[in-house]
Amino acid sequence: MANHKRLVAEELRSHVIIAADHAGIGLKKYLVPKLVNAGYAVEDVGAVRIDPNDDYPDYAAKVARHVARDDTAVGVLICGTGAGMAMAANKIPFVRAAFCMDEFEAKMSREHNDANIITLRGRRFSKSKAWRVARIFLETPFYGEPRHVRRIKKIAKIEKARKKR
Ligand code: RB5
Repeated sequence: MANHKRLVAEELRSHVIIAADHAGIGLKKYLVPKLVNAGYAVEDVGAVRIDPNDDYPDYAAKVARHVARDDTAVGVLICGTGAGMAMAANKIPFVRAAFCMDEFEAKMSREHNDANIITLRGRRFSKSKAWRVARIFLETPFYGEPRHVRRIKKIAKIEKARKKR
């Protein structure tokens, strides 16, 4: 699909692809049934067990690549802080991953930035709060106003020029 269509798509993504490393697996286990009960088609791509040696960029890449090629999908990534997952996922073209700690960030990152992945903090963060934040992210549409589309296009431009450094 053309990048432009991606930028102005206002329909909500109904297919959730979720992953976590060892530090996020507890929150992932809590969120998956909640997402299913809320009516989302959920694809859990790991981790399946706690392995302190697993690496968050592997999960970030898996989810980010999926979201980048599937406009019906939205990603949920969880690591200890939420920061590493965001850094790794945002290396994939067409991905706009937002690390959200509260409802305001979740709402704004959808309305203004058309974020297609939310990253959450698995450590020192209330699970019920994480669910509230994720839910707002998933339920909030992109505004699609020209100023927001223009700004997102500028992100894509930076992405294209990235290799130049
Ligand atoms: C793993 O210990 C931790 O570093 C990872 O989950 C994440 O917080 C990185 O950003």
